[in-house]
Order: sequence, then structure tokens, then C-alpha cells
Amino acid sequence: MKLPLLCAVAAATSALSLGAWAQAPSAQVDPNVFLNQFESTFGKFEGYRRSGAKGICAAGEFVGNADARGLSTSTAFSGKPVPVLVRFSVGGANPNAPDNGKSQRNLALQFNLPGGEIWQMGNISAPVFGASTPQQFLGRLASLQPDPETKKPDPAKVKAFADDNPEVLLQGKHFASQPVPASFGTVNYWGVHAFGFVNAKGDKRFGKWIFEPTEGLQGLSDDEAKAKGPSFLFDELRQRVKDHKVSFNFNLELAEPGDKIDSATVPLPAGRKKVNLGVLKVTSVSPDAGGDCLGITFNPMVLPKGVEPSADPMIAARAAPYGVGLGRRLVEGPKQQ
Ligand code: HEM
Repeated sequence: MKLPLLCAVAAATSALSLGAWAQAPSAQVDPNVFLNQFESTFGKFEGYRRSGAKGICAAGEFVGNADARGLSTSTAFSGKPVPVLVRFSVGGANPNAPDNGKSQRNLALQFNLPGGEIWQMGNISAPVFGASTPQQFLGRLASLQPDPETKKPDPAKVKAFADDNPEVLLQGKHFASQPVPASFGTVNYWGVHAFGFVNAKGDKRFGKWIFEPTEGLQGLSDDEAKAKGPSFLFDELRQRVKDHKVSFNFNLELAEPGDKIDSATVPLPAGRKKVNLGVLKVTSVSPDAGGDCLGITFNPMVLPKGVEPSADPMIAARAAPYGVGLGRRLVEGPKQQ
């Protein structure tokens, strides 16, 4: 019997019980195809990240707690302060994206753990991503590619793709329902994928994490956002960090048996137990466009011992495009402002 391609890949993957790295190559999209499609759809901005282009480096410290140690052996949760490299950014490929729009904000983190171990992640200000598989993401980007004559996406193509793939609209609906964030430090950032937390007994619990500002959420009214103009977030962040007001609770929502944990477009059901794993405090912000985050990428497959990827195909699918994207921008001369 001939299985449709996606089913065949899924069957092969689950039958072999392989991890996220071991997906059949056909489940992946060639990273250069992804990068080229980003550039065709959003334009090419040399030196900049093809997503999360407008950003700023910062640094901080994470202290994990006993509840986290009960879930994972990761040294991130030892209770001793762990240095963290931080990058905040505005969603999209355009380095001039306005700060006062109802769009995505990003929080990318690199935990520098003892013994040179590293944990990287890129979190977004929505509980869901805009696609559940790499193929669907590529299709969505292609549907948004401007028509050469009108220089705008063809509404019929956009609609046809979204009609066939309704989950690609969920993320945009979230942003439309929220105010413009008043600061990079006053909005929630979701990991959107499930990860497995493995403790000293070898028990694995899957969960989805959220970084929630300890000072609470703060948004702008439409008039306030208009008055702020398109470029206020970097200076605002510098001031807020000087005032010691940028820290986040690293919270984990625990999945229950039967929950869907392999999709970045399906949050866990409401009301799942939320465990606080510790607090991330941002302690300094780069005074300019430079800093340690400029010449690296944040690959969500770079995980510490004690944290493992779930079967969500989007986790592993990010690794190669991020690497190729880093290569392109390093050759062009890296920029972020
Ligand atoms: C196959 C799916 C995806 C592709 C092809 C893709 C592609 C990219 C690329 C090319 C970059 C720039 C990387 C660099 O130059 O360092 C990027 C950045 C980013 N992506 Fe994705 N992405 C995908 C899925 C996701 C998902 C599911 C999330 C949700 C958490 C996400 C969140 C981010 C964030 C937060 C950044 C900015 C990271 C930074 O500050 O360096 N991406 N993405």
C-alpha cells in the first residue's frame, strides 16, 4: 500500500522510536530552500538574521529551584547562578520593523552551564507558531511571496493556502488580540514546543515552557503605541534593566497523558499544572548594535543533559536553517540594528 509521504515519514519515525534528529531526511526541508524563500517573501537584508532581524544583545543570570531539580538533572537548575546570554528582537526579516506594531517579540537565550555545556532556545511572544511542520511553513512563506507585478502577496494564493491550512492563522489571531507590548520586559515568551525533562530517577515529564515577567504584563493603548513611534524598545529596555525591573519566571506547563505534545500550533489544554523552575534576571544590555549574540545563532536542538526534544518535527527542522542563516549573515557582515 502506498502511504502519502507525510504519513509514511511519520510511520517510519514512530516505528523506529527515533529521536527528533533521526527523522527521515525527506521530512526536512533543504535549509537553503528555506533561506531563499525567506528572502523572496520578505526581501533580502544583508547581514541581518532572516527572522528576528532587529535585535539587541543583553546578559543575565538564571537561578533554578528545587522543583526544577525534581524534574530535571540539568545543571541549569543547580540553584547556583548560571550566566545567560540574551537576545531580544522584533519579529520578521525587516531590520526597520516598527516597535509599535501588534507583532511578534522574541527572547533568545543561551545558558552557559558548568563544564562548557550550553542550552539554547528561541522563544516567541505567542503560545503558538505559524505552522506545525516545516513543509507547511515553507508553503505559507511561498503563499506570502509578493507578486512581481503588484509587489504585494496575491490575496487569492494567501487565502487558498490558509483555507487548506487553517492553523497558520492562529498566531496572527493571538497578536491581533493583544496590545502592543510596552517593553521587551513586559510580555510573555513561549517556547511553543514540548520538551522532555528527565530527573535523577530517569523519569521523563513533557512540558511546554513560558517566560513570564515577574513585574507583570504591560501593554500600550493604540494611542500610546502611536505616540511611542517605531523605535523605542532598545532605550526602554536599557532604562528598565538599569532600574532592575527585567526578570522572568521560567515556568513549565506539564503535559498529561494523552495531551498533544508534537505540535507548535496546539498549546496544552488550559489549566495544566504550572511549575516554576527558577528566575531569569536580565542584568545588562548592550549599549550598541554589537555584543556576544550578534555572531551566533540560537539552535533549539542545543539542549543540556536532562532536557530532551519531543517528537515535534519543528524543533529539529530549525537547526539547519539557523546554521545556514548564520553562515549567510557572517559572510555578509553581521548586523542587527
Ligand atoms: C522550520 C521552521 C523554522 C524556520 C525555517 C525558521 C527560520 C529562522 C531563521 C532563518 C532565523 C534566523 C537565525 C539566525 O540567523 O541566527 C530564525 C530566528 C528565530 N526563530 Fe525561527 N524558524 C523556524 C521555526 C521557529 C519556531 C517554531 C519558533 C518558535 C519558538 C521560532 C522562533 C525564532 C526566534 C525566537 C528567532 C530569533 C532568534 C535570535 O534572536 O537569534 N522559529 N528562524
